[in-house]
Amino acid sequence: MSRTSFASMVSTFRSVVRFRRFSWSATERRLARAASVADLRRIAKRRLPAGVFDYIDGGAEDELTLRRNRAAFARIEFRPRVLRDVSRVDPSVSLLGRTLPIPLVLAPTGSTRIAHPQGELAVARAAARAGLPYTLSTLGNRSIEEVARENDGPHWFQLYVWEDRGLAKELIQRAQAAGYEALVLTLDTIVFGRRDRDVRRGFTLPPRIGLDTIVEGILHPAWTWNLLRSEPIVFANVTGRGVEGGAPVSVTDYGHEPFDASFSWPDVEWIRSIWDGPVVLKGIQTVEDAELALEAGVETIAVSNHGGRQLDGAPPALEVLPRVVEAVGGRAEILCDGGVRRGSDIVKAVALGATAAMAGRAYLYGLGAAGEAGVDHVLRMLDDDVRRTMALCGVASTDELTPDLVRWRRSGS
Ligand code: FNR
Repeated sequence: MSRTSFASMVSTFRSVVRFRRFSWSATERRLARAASVADLRRIAKRRLPAGVFDYIDGGAEDELTLRRNRAAFARIEFRPRVLRDVSRVDPSVSLLGRTLPIPLVLAPTGSTRIAHPQGELAVARAAARAGLPYTLSTLGNRSIEEVARENDGPHWFQLYVWEDRGLAKELIQRAQAAGYEALVLTLDTIVFGRRDRDVRRGFTLPPRIGLDTIVEGILHPAWTWNLLRSEPIVFANVTGRGVEGGAPVSVTDYGHEPFDASFSWPDVEWIRSIWDGPVVLKGIQTVEDAELALEAGVETIAVSNHGGRQLDGAPPALEVLPRVVEAVGGRAEILCDGGVRRGSDIVKAVALGATAAMAGRAYLYGLGAAGEAGVDHVLRMLDDDVRRTMALCGVASTDELTPDLVRWRRSGS
């Protein structure tokens, strides 16, 4: 080979070769390879014990609603407009009197510490950095007060009501005193859904490392080491109040804990008499109930089927949304969740009339894959996605996200 052709090869090689900057942080290296929430889900699946991953990832019974939640987003097609000035895209929205940078609320998820010991604190801090509301679940592993102290962003509290009404009242008063801005009443969990994956695995909350799970523990050393080094996982807000907090209970047994199955519309009035602030009714799935919610005077309706974890066969929230939007006619703000994995999903929900979308698993996958940095990564990706999708649709502000921007396909392929 002549000297010139060798030099030319070297020069061509140098023009095409690009090495990624090496990071000494394993978390950074892991996140650099995650281009989407689906990638983070795959990483979380590898890093978490199977029972923990399935508890987060799974849905009720045959998981029809779980799958249909995602399929509904795939059925929506954009009608992108061109030659519009999108040099400045503003994805912000106003929700309950606050301006949010993008139309997104972090949905309540119980027992978040099973994904990572920092759990709710990590998610709340990441949400605050992103300027998004974080909703703490009644069944969180961190207390109302701890979460309020750790995040200076907007935070909401989600309430489950047991037969012990004194407990509900106490939780509401604690949330009020700690500065929570909205109370989210979850209505679709009057009893617990049956999640076949949890039944098969005998999954318990808090998770237990016994002989049956010891292999899983060894196969997922980082998770096990983190768990063993941190304080015990408890339901921090309700421990010692007749609700299991210390001893593990199988998730299926948990369904027999006495959530108050008699809870009904007049009780919403009772809640409003204690809570001084906006109420979000989460789990509305029909126009009829949306109308009752308006009669009850609530500020926000969250169209939701609990991410397909409760009633299998319940309709995808995205499909119910347009009818609810029409019936509500601007008299309340509307949230929608179930299946949000990309910013384009958020854009679709807003185009169909939601004020904002909520997401649960998306941030849990981030948390399971890489802790707090993983949640930051998810929120950054969703923010980028929303801005890019709006620009590609020829939309410069969320006011322009209207139903004429989308149409339904027959199938989701
Ligand atoms: C939930 N969700 C939930 N909702 C609620 O009101 N209180 C809770 O304690 C929980 N816990 C919970 C745990 C886990 C592991 C998941 C995945 C979900 C439901 C949640 O708020 C939201 O409705 C769904 O997560 C939305 O669906 P996606 O975004 O997960 O697809």
